[in-house]
Amino acid sequence: MIRSVVRGVGAETPRRIMNNDDFVGLVDTSDEWITQRTGIRQRHIASDDETTASLGEAAARKALAASGLTPADIDLIVLATSTPNNTFPATAVEIQQRLGMHHGFAFDLQAVCSGFLYALTTADLYIRGGSAKRVLVIGAETFSRILDWTDRTTCVLFGDGAGALVLEAQVGEGSVADQGILTTSLRSDGAHKEKLYVDGGPSTSGTVGKLRMEGREVFKHAVGMITDVVEAALGDAGVTADDLDWFVPHQANKRIIDASARKLGIAEEKVVVTVDRHGNTSAASVPLALAAAVADGRIKRGDLVLLEAMGGGFTWGAALVRW
Ligand code: ACO
Repeated sequence: MIRSVVRGVGAETPRRIMNNDDFVGLVDTSDEWITQRTGIRQRHIASDDETTASLGEAAARKALAASGLTPADIDLIVLATSTPNNTFPATAVEIQQRLGMHHGFAFDLQAVCSGFLYALTTADLYIRGGSAKRVLVIGAETFSRILDWTDRTTCVLFGDGAGALVLEAQVGEGSVADQGILTTSLRSDGAHKEKLYVDGGPSTSGTVGKLRMEGREVFKHAVGMITDVVEAALGDAGVTADDLDWFVPHQANKRIIDASARKLGIAEEKVVVTVDRHGNTSAASVPLALAAAVADGRIKRGDLVLLEAMGGGFTWGAALVRW
């Protein structure tokens, strides 16, 4: 059977770093509150010349270099983002142009913080269906542009960045020993829309809008939804949490990550955490964390890696990958 194998990953963060102390004076907050409640110590914030497209392009170029490939080798670009450069055309098409690609096809996909899991699943289906051999999967965001910088309950939580990986079709045997994406599991429930949303859009206000979140409400649902979808993915593959080498969760809050890992029975030393450095970068958070753990040598070929995310919608999803 055809498997979607990861050939390489890449990441890009904006030049400017904002520490927790930089918020003191902007809003009524403290480094102590942000660190204790979220685990975040700093985040990268895009300057005027840095956009979702430019960050996505840079991450894509690094993923291509790590794969030993060029844009000519790519059939499809799937970009997960909730902060596109324009309402249309898709920012994926802009990245395609920036990469000098005039063949294949590219589109955006929007599932907020779960976007990368949705994009990975979509790319896997195109590959396994035979419509694409090599796919660039990108998560890129500039959430700083949709934050209300006077709202201390949200503005301290998010950051900007991009991560990308190249998937390639390879023949596997159909067992969990295969390299590549072994199983994915996606869920959504629009009943929770009002708990995490942006209060504008082309078809309602005609504006871009600002992010609004009932953090405590989101927190209450997060751990249950994450463990539910992770257990579904593990069950589909016939493996248990003990078989995992690495757990790469969405980086929203260290307390959510710790509680999810505890409930799933995943040892602390197998959990990849970058929320302290990046804050919540929405669809970019999982590939940014993956890129960090590959770059420092933790994730190696053959490792069993579990990815998960949960976010606005609500949407949530998990993927089990043999690296
Ligand atoms: N600095 C100081 N105090 C603050 C700040 C701040 N930046 N923000 C809120 N507070 C105050 C609140 O006003 C509240 O004060 P009160 O008790 O006087 O009313 C107090 O701190 C506690 O607020 P809570 O909201 O109960 O704090 P909590 O421990 O729940 O932490 C947080 C808040 C960090 C937002 C947490 O709820 C969280 O992480 N939620 C989930 C976020 C998430 O996972 N989102 C999903 C992905 S995002 C996406 O899809 C785009």
